[in-house]
Amino acid sequence: MKRLKIKEINSCENPPEKALIGGWVRTRRDSKTFSFIEINDGSCLSNIQIIADSSIENYDNIAKLTTGSCISILGKIVESPGKGQKWEVQAEKIDIHNNAPEDFPLQKKRHSDEFLRTIAHLRPRTNKFSSVFRIRAELSQAVHSYFYEKGFRYIHTPILTASDCEGAGEMFSVSSDSVKNGFFFSKPANLTVSGQLEAEMMALSLGDVYTFGPTFRAENSNTSRHAAEFWMIEPEMSFCDLEQNMDVAEDFIKNIITRTRKNCSEDLELFNRFVDKTLFETLENILENRFVRITYKEAVEILKKSGQKFEYDPVYGADLQTEHERFITETEFKKPVFVYNYPKNIKPFYMRLNSDNETVAAMDLLVPKIGELIGGSQREERFDILQKRMEECSINKEEYWWYLDSRKYGSVYHSGFGMGFDRIMMLVTGVSNIRDVIPFPRTPGSIEF
Ligand code: 4AD
Ligand code: MG
Repeated sequence: MKRLKIKEINSCENPPEKALIGGWVRTRRDSKTFSFIEINDGSCLSNIQIIADSSIENYDNIAKLTTGSCISILGKIVESPGKGQKWEVQAEKIDIHNNAPEDFPLQKKRHSDEFLRTIAHLRPRTNKFSSVFRIRAELSQAVHSYFYEKGFRYIHTPILTASDCEGAGEMFSVSSDSVKNGFFFSKPANLTVSGQLEAEMMALSLGDVYTFGPTFRAENSNTSRHAAEFWMIEPEMSFCDLEQNMDVAEDFIKNIITRTRKNCSEDLELFNRFVDKTLFETLENILENRFVRITYKEAVEILKKSGQKFEYDPVYGADLQTEHERFITETEFKKPVFVYNYPKNIKPFYMRLNSDNETVAAMDLLVPKIGELIGGSQREERFDILQKRMEECSINKEEYWWYLDSRKYGSVYHSGFGMGFDRIMMLVTGVSNIRDVIPFPRTPGSIEF
């Protein structure tokens, strides 16, 4: 017997007469001779109604089914007379796999996001979170499709590494109890903060590549936009300058949002109605406008002239604070903004030095409601200047000998960026806390599941 998902049944004009369906009970109500059971199987937002006639052999147990229980049904798919559903199932046989006790935490009422985080193992059973995770799957697929269609090669960069790409020292170290004397790898290892350095090596051989994987940062910032483990998409392109890099980033974001809107329309509708009523407006704004491009210097001038009271005064030479970034994208331009050419002192060693000797060819993309969505740059491809920048940034050149080598043997101008996947999830769903777009989030003090 073919297993059918609710999504498949709902999208059929003529579903097969009989089907085997499995799912979890959302509600049950009884009439004199029937039990009506709504189940959901996670394949889509809608439930399907099962009608169990009292003549079914285990009807006594069926009539006691509780919310959260798991059953499978062999039955006839018939047109539903009820509103809002096309098909329902007349059960011939119902297998009860597991009866959930009455203390199942997800009874029919609204639960706060905070509460649901404490039951991360069960929250995908709710409408909201099942939608989040279906959208997450679709968005991942969209990322791969985009790059595949553009001819980029998907590469796997290491998770264990001995280098610190961002040079910020925010790394989780990795140890092995089985190797008591000395290091397993003969030098200290950590979890990667970015796959960029390795992606560069691959781009300098294969041309256009991207990596999409988990990254780890031990920054102790307990905000709604930071996680200790997050997924990042990092394209790296040879023969590509900063402007072309921004072109790719803009096209990429518009493409994956468009595809996700099309393929997850039912799920997204839920967010537009119940989570953020301006969601569709925000997404349209992103799709329809050309992103603004301003230099860091212009950004600081705008902030200074704004008359806005900030917690931190904007000063040239300092990092833009989240409040500054949000002012620029939400208040000043009301659309996505690339800020480029940052002072070299506030950016990592690998960014290309501009001819002013003061700024580097960096770009950050700021978007409404999130702030920084992308960080990227053109890379320093000139051996001598890279060496000098490493010295200035107190980077141990011996340890990065292989990175320097790439600037000796066939170096070429190249660029790339990193987009926080969990942040674009927040943008696409309107969910305001990163903990609520990650199945099992890792944040300071939280690694329960
Ligand atoms: O700006 P970042 O630190 O850039 C890099 O790591 C570069 N090596 C990328 C590259 O050029 N290949 O991080 C890139 C993006 C940020 O813009 C943000 O969206 C996300 O990664 N990000 C985080 N997301 C969630 N939690 C955190 N703690 C994050 N830190 C960065
Ligand atoms: Mg950044």
